[in-house]
Amino acid sequence: MPKAIKIFDTTLRDGEQTPGVNLNISEKLEIARQLDRLGVDIIEAGFAASSPGDFQAVGAVASAIKNSTVACLCRTVQDDIDIAWEAVKHAVDPRLHIFIATSDIHMKYKLKMTPDDVLQLTQSMVRYAKKYCSNIEFSAEDATRTRPEFLYKVVQSAINEGATCVNIPDTVGYTLPSEYGKLIKSIQQNVTGIEKADISVHCHDDLGLAVSNSLAAVMNGATQVECTINGLGERAGNAAMEEIVMTIKTRPDIFNASTNIDTTQFTRTSRLVSGLAGISVPPNKAIVGANAFTHESGIHQHGVLSEKSTYEIITPESIGLTANKISLGKLSGRAAFEHHLVEMGYTLDKPALDRAFDKFKQIADKKKTVTDEDIEAIVNDKISDVPKTFILDSFQVNSGNNMISTATVSMKINRKDMKGTHVRGNVMETENSDEVLVTEAATGDGPVDALFNAIDRLCDMKTNLSQYSLKAITGGTDALGEVSVKVEKDGKFYFGRGISTDILESSARAYINALNKIVNI
Ligand code: KIV
Ligand code: ZN
Repeated sequence: MPKAIKIFDTTLRDGEQTPGVNLNISEKLEIARQLDRLGVDIIEAGFAASSPGDFQAVGAVASAIKNSTVACLCRTVQDDIDIAWEAVKHAVDPRLHIFIATSDIHMKYKLKMTPDDVLQLTQSMVRYAKKYCSNIEFSAEDATRTRPEFLYKVVQSAINEGATCVNIPDTVGYTLPSEYGKLIKSIQQNVTGIEKADISVHCHDDLGLAVSNSLAAVMNGATQVECTINGLGERAGNAAMEEIVMTIKTRPDIFNASTNIDTTQFTRTSRLVSGLAGISVPPNKAIVGANAFTHESGIHQHGVLSEKSTYEIITPESIGLTANKISLGKLSGRAAFEHHLVEMGYTLDKPALDRAFDKFKQIADKKKTVTDEDIEAIVNDKISDVPKTFILDSFQVNSGNNMISTATVSMKINRKDMKGTHVRGNVMETENSDEVLVTEAATGDGPVDALFNAIDRLCDMKTNLSQYSLKAITGGTDALGEVSVKVEKDGKFYFGRGISTDILESSARAYINALNKIVNI
């Protein structure tokens, strides 16, 4: 009988700690629903005590999710535990996840506590949390740099107080697979009653070993793996779920283990997370990278044509990578569009559905065929919508290889949201008394620079563009172009995206989406 491995996803908590990633509630909800569909056992929805936004997001995820356990992170602090419980208590199966650092270096310099203080807090706070919830996870932060004898003691005290899962994180990505495997084994040998709890592992990728370490732990008795989609996370990231799950599935001879994950949902989940988080997946990334199933050399192509298994150890279908289906056309009505979205697994509220349908109609008018990938991009774009202070009305760009690029942009601007900044450019009143139509021109170093300069003038905003990327959603010259931008304003980063069959329009929309976030979030 294969051993059951629980998959604990922390994309919404540790993954959101990726520098520059800032998901809003509707983005988090959409990711959580997709994680539920993917079959993850536990979704860590956030760290409720860290901010009112996180509190709200954890509450929203807890109320929406019907199958997965929903966990909320908290420190060994009563207030944190109270807040976490308040946020997560409406989940079908809530979990409180309590952590404290146990390594000498963290206890001395970060916590300024003695080992006895840490031991005592572990006991008292696991006991306190247990009043609220039977499902308690305890994490010994920086476990891999903790003195093993002390780690056993702390884990023992958490188990004695009723922790149902104990996590042994490699917080700084320091350990090696053989070492980590031994540590997991030694915990089973040195902690009484450990069989009553899951042993969880949580690995960071500072040395590129997060997945290997997690797998070594599974081979040595871990029953839960904490990971993120696409390996998002602090610094170099966390262990990538798709790599761990596909390795366990591909090598039953080694692991004799199974997970509840529906692996055919990986492609879609990866695209959703990458799109909403604004972190693109490298083409050579294992499992979900664009090249993962592309065979370039003649010898490989020949081999795959005669027998796929010569060079493919997993099939594209097993991760949900199917031939791009033509799904809808410009004659498709609202009901057909909605029905198709439901079949694809989306559950949009009415305003988001209306916006997505409008966008679909605009695109279907310009593009011969609209595929499922196009629809995914349209829907993801609408999920990340924010209130619109700035709306693109029209633009014109003059550009060439021997001239200075110029752009003229007209935008509708909501005066009420401008909070003290000025509306600039050529101003015209509209039917809506709060809104003005403004037009401004600017030059730039290329068409995109000219466009962004004109938009900056109109919005009276000074930002730094720290990232710009353009991706074609499907092949062909009429493909949808998706532009992602990351802009910095007053030390904070904002991510924007825009899609259109015209890449300059995608660029303008992405930039305006980021500016709307600056004034509305
Ligand atoms: O990396 C880590 O140690 C963590 C804990 C809070 C589980 O994220
Ligand atoms: Zn972590």
